[in-house]
Amino acid sequence: MASLWALCSVLTIAAVVAILAKIIVKMAMSSGWYKKSFAERQNQWSKTGGLFFAPLKQKLFSDLDEHLKQLKGDVLEIGIGAGQNFDDYPQGMSLIAVDYNPHVEKLLKENLAKAGGRVQMKTFIVASSVDMSGAEGKVGVEDNSVAAVVCTKLLCSLTEEQIVKTVQEVKRVLMPGGRFFFMEHVLGKPWSLRYILQQLVSKSHLWPTLFNGCRCDHETLPFIQKGGFKLVQAEKRYLKVTPELHVGSKKISVDWSSRLLAYLVHSVLLGFAEKER
Ligand SMILES: C[S@@+](CC[C@H](N)C(=O)[O-])C[C@H]1O[C@@H](n2cnc3c(N)ncnc32)[C@H](O)[C@@H]1O
Repeated sequence: MASLWALCSVLTIAAVVAILAKIIVKMAMSSGWYKKSFAERQNQWSKTGGLFFAPLKQKLFSDLDEHLKQLKGDVLEIGIGAGQNFDDYPQGMSLIAVDYNPHVEKLLKENLAKAGGRVQMKTFIVASSVDMSGAEGKVGVEDNSVAAVVCTKLLCSLTEEQIVKTVQEVKRVLMPGGRFFFMEHVLGKPWSLRYILQQLVSKSHLWPTLFNGCRCDHETLPFIQKGGFKLVQAEKRYLKVTPELHVGSKKISVDWSSRLLAYLVHSVLLGFAEKER
């Protein structure tokens, strides 16, 4: 009887500790401090491990360039962060930027200035990708108004329900014939060491807690395929993670922690979805 009582007490204490930990983590992650520090960390990482994405971005944005020659209009980037794509965007592109974290704006403007006029940023809107309609008097994005939507490493941070709503929003704001360009890290090959680690770090909440809700265990393509687009073209590519990277004439050493992060986001879904004309 006494041992049953002890077991019940231990289980109750463990449950209370788990609930308290969950509440504390949730409160910490919604604080201004966390959001600001995540925006800065993300901006910093883009200069090291983030550079492994460069070849994939070149492919994505050369397709965007081609598309904008056919269909003129603004490009909306959702979950823009500190503006890590400015250097790869087509010259002279007109951009509407959306992110739900207001702390990215300062970094965004700094990176925009560094891009030296390559991109014209029309507006930065603080909104969630799940609802960019501008309800309740907020600035929003109109129906059928943009030629393309760009989304890089955003859907990994959303729940499945939020991905569904975001894809619906993307379709709403695209002009007929407009394209949704995406580059998202997804789950690796089943039962590889990487796959097991991706599952472990995501399901234990370690990765989502450290990286603003990001998960390494998403399979994103089915959500885009079910989004009601006329055409979806996507492929899986894999990052080439090396200790050194060549950027132009510069050689950059990538430390082990940045390489570890790149190892876990190594499988990347790349492509576009086109809205009916
Ligand atoms: C991992 S960062 C990627 C930033 C950038 N797109 C890139 O490729 O480096 C994800 C960004 O999405 C933003 N974000 C997360 N959830 C969002 C949501 N529901 N609506 C809008 N932005 C969101 C975060 O604030 C963050 O800036």
